[in-house]
Amino acid sequence: MAETGTDLVANRTLWTLVNSAFTDDDAFRAWAASEVTWGLFHVPEHEVRVLGDVRGLDVIELGCGTAYLSAWLARRGARPVGVDLTRAQLRTAVRCQQRWGPVFPLIEADGENVPMRSRSFDLVVSEYGASVWCDPERWVEEAARLLRPGGRLVFLTNSVLVTLCVPETEGFASERLVRPQRGLGRVRWPGGGTEFHPGHGEWIRILAGNGFVVEALHELYAPDAARTPDYYDIATAAWAGRWPVEDLWAARLEPDR
Ligand SMILES: C[S@@+](CC[C@H](N)C(=O)[O-])C[C@H]1O[C@@H](n2cnc3c(N)ncnc32)[C@H](O)[C@@H]1O
Repeated sequence: MAETGTDLVANRTLWTLVNSAFTDDDAFRAWAASEVTWGLFHVPEHEVRVLGDVRGLDVIELGCGTAYLSAWLARRGARPVGVDLTRAQLRTAVRCQQRWGPVFPLIEADGENVPMRSRSFDLVVSEYGASVWCDPERWVEEAARLLRPGGRLVFLTNSVLVTLCVPETEGFASERLVRPQRGLGRVRWPGGGTEFHPGHGEWIRILAGNGFVVEALHELYAPDAARTPDYYDIATAAWAGRWPVEDLWAARLEPDR
């Protein structure tokens, strides 16, 4: 796993660029959506049922980006707080709050070091946020600190399989393993930014080591009618219809912790 921690400067620079190229516009589509969906291919939450009833829950989203997931949860009665490293992403979130609502707190901070009190949340979520861009040895520990005993952690990240099939020079996943799993814990992309892709065994070790009991690992495929995403060239809809493209984990913090 990481020896020197997350590269905050590189990740912030990358996400400032991605914001101007894509997410600033795309956030308006996402905030306008009425349904909670997961990932690149918009798998509906009502099919996965990983969140449960969020009414009245204090929720923190680590690496919220433009914070559409938090917005969807707020509309279902949760009290979310969004945390992100990149000011441009949070500025887009503020514009979306003003345009679509609802308004909730947004904090500019590192997902590995969140300026919030311990044991103040019932649910920690991350969709391609800290779950990809923060060192799991650090952000999972931070999630455990932020949660009340018995609270839940739900996060989505690239599947281990798709990460093994995406070329090191970037581009869509092929039908071959093109990179070794050993060393995938920490990945630097040519386009900038550092990602973390532990294998399933590593995730279970890290979760259990921080007091979590794994409830589920949902391996997400693209729905039949899905289209290949316009911006992120990770997997085509055809690939993701055949192999799991995303891993959606649910874990519960031990109640007596
Ligand atoms: C893909 S976006 C995730 C948000 C949203 N769910 C989405 O899919 O667009 C990744 C986000 O992680 C944020 N990020 C990267 N490193 C971070 C860190 N160390 N702490 C908090 N957020 C971070 C980036 O600023 C970016 O907004």
